[in-house]
Amino acid sequence: MKRILVTGALGQIGTELVLKLRDIYGEGNVVASDIKRKDCPKIVESGPFEIVDVVQAHQIADAAKKYDVDMIIHLAALLSAVGEANPAKAWKINMGGLFNTLEVARELKCSVFTPSSIGAFGNSTPKDNTPQDTIQRPDTMYGVTKVAGELLCDYYFHKYGVDTKGVRFPGLISYETLPGGGTTDYAVHIYYGAVKDRRYTCYIKKGTYMDMMYMPDALNAVVTLCEADPSKLIHRNAFNISAMSFAPEHIYNEIKKNIPEFEMDYDVDPVRQRIAESWPNSLDDSAARAEWGWKPHYDLTSMTKDMLKKLNEKLK
Ligand code: SER
Repeated sequence: MKRILVTGALGQIGTELVLKLRDIYGEGNVVASDIKRKDCPKIVESGPFEIVDVVQAHQIADAAKKYDVDMIIHLAALLSAVGEANPAKAWKINMGGLFNTLEVARELKCSVFTPSSIGAFGNSTPKDNTPQDTIQRPDTMYGVTKVAGELLCDYYFHKYGVDTKGVRFPGLISYETLPGGGTTDYAVHIYYGAVKDRRYTCYIKKGTYMDMMYMPDALNAVVTLCEADPSKLIHRNAFNISAMSFAPEHIYNEIKKNIPEFEMDYDVDPVRQRIAESWPNSLDDSAARAEWGWKPHYDLTSMTKDMLKKLNEKLK
C-alpha cells in the first residue's frame, strides 16, 4: 500500500498533485504538508494535512512516522527569481530541505521523488536539443541547488539504496495556483492578463525560447515515473522532460487567435532575462521516453484553449 507525504503541498505543483494522488491512492493515504496552513480547503480538508518546515528534519520525520508513509514527494523549494533575490535562503531551503528529506527517507526506508529543473543548466550547456547527460554549470543559486540535489539523490541511491527518482521540469503552466517567483512565470501570468485585462506586459524579451509544459502532463510525469519498472531505469534522477518550447511572441500569437483584441508589450527584467538566456532553448527528452514511456499530451495550441477556458470559468 502506498502512503505518501508531500512537502510544499500548497505550492503550484502540490495543490494539483495532491488531489491527483488522493484520487489514485485514496484520500487518507496522501498527507499534504506545508510550512503554513493556507486558505486552501481543497487540500487541507480533503485528507490529512500537517505543518512541516522542511528545514526542521524532525518535522518531516514526525509527519512521516505519524502516518507510516513509504514515499516522500518533496516539492518545497524556492524558485529561480526569488532564489536570486535571496541566495542564502535558497541554499538553506533547497539544499537543507532535500538533505533532511533524504535522511528521513533513509532512516524510515521511504522512496523519494523530487523535481529538478531546466535551471540545472547554464550558459555553457548546449542550448538546442540539450542532451540528457551534458555540461551543468548553472549561473543561479537555484540552479546550483538543483544540480547538487540531482547528485545528492543519486548518492543516496548508490550509497544507501534509497529509491530516489526525479525529472527536470520545464516552466509549468497551470490555472489553479500561481507559481512562486520563477523565471518562466510569464507564461502563466500572460493568460491571466489576457482573460482579465486583454493585455499583458512581458518581462522576457521577444525571441527568448524556453521549454514549457501544461500541468496535467507534469502530474502524469510524476505518477508514471514513480510507478515505472526500476529495472528499465538507467537514469533515476533528473530526467529531461519537455512538452513544448516557445518564446513570448508565440504564446502571444496563440492567445490572440482566441482573443483577437489581446495586446502585449515588453518591459524586460534584466535579472530574469539573464536567467532565461542561460537556460536551454529546448530539451532532448528521449531518455525519459525510452526508459519509462514519457509522452506529453498538450502542445501550445491545446494548452492555450484549455487555459483560457478554465481561467474564464475561474475569474468570471
Ligand atoms: N519554473 C522554474 C523557474 O522559473 C524553473 O524550474 O524558476
